Amino acid sequence: MGLKMVFYPDPRLREVSKAVMPEDMTQIRETVPRMFEVMYRQRGVGLAGPQVGFMRRIIVANLTADPQNKAEEKVFLNPQIRKKSGSMFEDEGCLSLPGITAKIRRAAGVKAVYFDVEGQMWEVDCEGLCAKLFQHEIDHLDGVLMIDKMSAADIKQFKPLLRELEEDYKAKREPKHRRNAVPTEL
Ligand code: CO
Repeated sequence: MGLKMVFYPDPRLREVSKAVMPEDMTQIRETVPRMFEVMYRQRGVGLAGPQVGFMRRIIVANLTADPQNKAEEKVFLNPQIRKKSGSMFEDEGCLSLPGITAKIRRAAGVKAVYFDVEGQMWEVDCEGLCAKLFQHEIDHLDGVLMIDKMSAADIKQFKPLLRELEEDYKAKREPKHRRNAVPTEL
């Protein structure tokens, strides 16, 4: 059975996800390949648990977005940002908000810690898309969406689209697939 993408304004996107515990690992191992499936189907580079209704602190990512490139597949469990540096203001797109692209203020670099599926802890220092990924996806784990960080002008511009997504949700319809202006959705 496949997992289904969760779209705005589904209330699950507003929940704080639970930490992954050792007893969750069987379920995590089963869920990881299904999360990658959904991510590739939506042509994303990263996906957080709540985006498929799996309310655990898990992120899957492949910054190349290439399903053949298994070496670049990463699973981050209980990720935390330990340090931020600098600032960037770049276009972002979210798989749960199809059709919306806006500039979001983020740290340019992060130091993050996480566990892999073997339970080993890792520390990573990264910039650019990788830094954007950690910040955007950890926001998802905390119930925070891009729209919370968008300018008032951008919110106004995308109001009709947000309304449409709200109508789709109410009618239990899957939103129209809209290609985003950014090639790297999160
Ligand atoms: Co997102």
